[in-house]
Amino acid sequence: MHALGIDIGGSGIKAAPVDVATGKLLAPRQKIATPRPALPEAVADVVKELAAASFGWSGPVGITFPGVVTDGVTRTAANLDPAWIGLDAASLFAEAAGNPVRVLNDADAAGVAEMTFGAGVGEPGTVLMLTFGTGIGSALFTQGVLVPNTEFGHIEIRGEEAEKRASEHAKELRDLSWGKWAGRVDEYLRHMEALLSPHLIIVGGGISKQADKWVPRLTGIRARIVPAVMLNEAGIVGAAMAAVSSAAPDTSGASGADARRISGRDGRRRAGHS
Ligand code: BGC
Repeated sequence: MHALGIDIGGSGIKAAPVDVATGKLLAPRQKIATPRPALPEAVADVVKELAAASFGWSGPVGITFPGVVTDGVTRTAANLDPAWIGLDAASLFAEAAGNPVRVLNDADAAGVAEMTFGAGVGEPGTVLMLTFGTGIGSALFTQGVLVPNTEFGHIEIRGEEAEKRASEHAKELRDLSWGKWAGRVDEYLRHMEALLSPHLIIVGGGISKQADKWVPRLTGIRARIVPAVMLNEAGIVGAAMAAVSSAAPDTSGASGADARRISGRDGRRRAGHS
């Protein structure tokens, strides 16, 4: 089963067709800069361009969004324009793409991809995936099942939202050294560990490409910490998987669970996506 995955990020919108059984991209990734301001119509135009011009795509489309998404409606937009709040993004994008579309949170998509094909394969306990980019995204799993729309980047530390202190963007904005920034990430992870006691923390986002510079400095945590392995592709692959899942991955309904459950140590999925 093939689906087009589109990953909407703060700086770029990336897309590729994906074989959802293997998690492999079927064509090179295309990237278009996120329009400024990132208004819904402007982003929909990019989706149209990626779906039509780049691939002439006909078939299911999955799209990630950097905010809470329930039943295709975007509920928050911390790092995009407030015009997204309460918008029926699934309908807007379906029209733009000329295909059925499923919309889900970006970190949830990346997490599902990592749990199925990447760093979380076969991890049965509580797994927390965190993405460090413009903001901090989170995806929480237990027994391989996702709790959608967790927003752990917004917990408060020292009177500030965690993502304002410890995202990749915060590192750049405040010109923090690796050591200083890793200290902030460590402090953030200590808070998350106190709240959730995960067995495994997967750290993702673009900055995980340089994991050797900061992951070894995260010393205050009991849980195992591993860098994401799918890097730039996790969001695209997770979006494509959501597009062909028979259940609704963007709500908190229990019916969405089976399609994302993995089967323990051997990492085979109990319910497929094709
Ligand atoms: C948003 C999350 C998103 C994360 C990463 C946060 O500001 O609230 O929904 O997953 O950024 O993009």
